[in-house]
Amino acid sequence: MDRERTWWKEAVVYQIYPKSFNDSDGDGVGDLQGVIDRLDHVESLGADVIWLNPVYESPQADNGYDISDYRAIHEEYGTMEDWEDLLAEVHDRGMRLIMDLVVNHTSTDHEWFRKSREGEDGYREYYYWRDGDGEEPPNNWKSGFGGSAWERDEEVGEQYLHLFDRTQADLNWDNAEVREDVYEMMNWWLEKGIDGFRMDVVNLVSKPEGLPDGDPEQDWTGIEHFANGPNAQAYLEEMAERTYDDYDTMTVGECVDVDVETASDYVSADGPMDMLFHFEHMFVDVGDRWLSPAEWDLTDLKAVMSHWQTELDGWNSLYLTNHDQPRIVSRFADDGEYRRESGKLLATLLFTLSGTPYVYQGQEIGMTNYPWSSLDELDDLQSIGKVEEAMEAGEVDAFEEVQDIVRARSRDNARTPMQWDESEHAGFTDGDPWLAVNPDYEEVNVAAAERDGDSILQYYRTLVDVRDENDVLVYGDYQLLIPDHEELWAYRRTLTTDGGTDEVLVVLNFDDTETVATLDDAERAGEVVVANYDEVPTTDGVLTLRPYEARVYELE
Ligand code: NOJ
Repeated sequence: MDRERTWWKEAVVYQIYPKSFNDSDGDGVGDLQGVIDRLDHVESLGADVIWLNPVYESPQADNGYDISDYRAIHEEYGTMEDWEDLLAEVHDRGMRLIMDLVVNHTSTDHEWFRKSREGEDGYREYYYWRDGDGEEPPNNWKSGFGGSAWERDEEVGEQYLHLFDRTQADLNWDNAEVREDVYEMMNWWLEKGIDGFRMDVVNLVSKPEGLPDGDPEQDWTGIEHFANGPNAQAYLEEMAERTYDDYDTMTVGECVDVDVETASDYVSADGPMDMLFHFEHMFVDVGDRWLSPAEWDLTDLKAVMSHWQTELDGWNSLYLTNHDQPRIVSRFADDGEYRRESGKLLATLLFTLSGTPYVYQGQEIGMTNYPWSSLDELDDLQSIGKVEEAMEAGEVDAFEEVQDIVRARSRDNARTPMQWDESEHAGFTDGDPWLAVNPDYEEVNVAAAERDGDSILQYYRTLVDVRDENDVLVYGDYQLLIPDHEELWAYRRTLTTDGGTDEVLVVLNFDDTETVATLDDAERAGEVVVANYDEVPTTDGVLTLRPYEARVYELE
């Protein structure tokens, strides 16, 4: 375990999805001025770093992950001046700002793609153009959003590769000129004073020679070829050397289909990035395919997370949700009677594991999944694409058949507007919100959480302080206890320094009934560091946890 002290290990990151955060001009879409107006909220939470989802110029097919100009701000979000104001305001408050870096693909509206299509000097090789066999695609790779990963362009008479939407064409990283252009752009942003990057699907940048067919049984066909491809490590190393290695930054790479061994190459002390987002824990409740139902077991979640806690050679990033994942109380605990306890339980988990915690907007007030009831209500390309694909294949006739899965899984659950208060549209906008506001906003909102001394929001603030004050929670080793227990997640964190050994015990009840923990460590349970119920009874060596109860003890 890497114990070298660094600011980004001690930091708490707050993720802002600008489209849904706060609308300052009444057009129904969040914007940069809206973010500035709400920085007090982020600061009061105790966040150290803001990760801003893409705000670059974009036709918004995938809400900004389809960039048409890396050096301009999307009109609906404001201007470059607004962005500069935001950076200054963030820095004035002692926080840092990391930007989303989306360089596996560009929008087909990007100048590079236009030139590529037109065959202008050297630009054809900026993307993957291949001849299919007539209408047949060049290989069987699929898009992450459903359907083939290839699109025929009539003008060129060939097909181009897109691992996501057909408007998101994959850049050809084997072309050194592409890499140069990307590095130049990254340095341009670094020079503007940003504090790092969250790097979108960054381990997909290298595709193998010949683009071989993938295993058709894989839901995302081709993934074994395009994830962690032959030059991924080398390109990422080159990128780090040529750009952020010269700055005091924090970098976190989103990595698809990565295991602990490969991840260690990326994030070990001499690896190209500080942290990464893996997906293993995000699949515990997903079947073979996006649309197949699956139950989840706490033992699986514990096993996956514990494996990363102990085996990664590098620093963990900790997330339970983001703009691509459902809301956590709905997913892993209870969004009804025990929403408050659940929100706090999951927060306790996030802040007491080893790694840097990432809090996604709305998580701090316990926002819940949305009750979607038709495809028309949804905006997300993935949900729509997956359902349409199943309909075209004749596997599904009507939305109702997959409604439960879409409700549980859609990325739009995380994208409904941030709920600020009880007023119309939850205080997000004076206009018509681009995506529906969750009907629970009158109960679940920031203003209500501020008035309530016992809210999930107040508990997040407590956890930020607790983590700040207890080095063992940042730098301590992790050890899983009672791994086979189906309701309880218990672990010990241990930090030995010159000053001695600090140990804490974390016990989390993921069940809606009272659960007894039979643990040797309970005998040593001392002072309560933090807990999500008001009164914690004395232990006498036996811990009886109430529904969704979370307790952290000092060990004596
Ligand atoms: C991952 C991003 O988080 C997601 O929102 C996006 O759709 C894909 N990458 C494609 O850029």
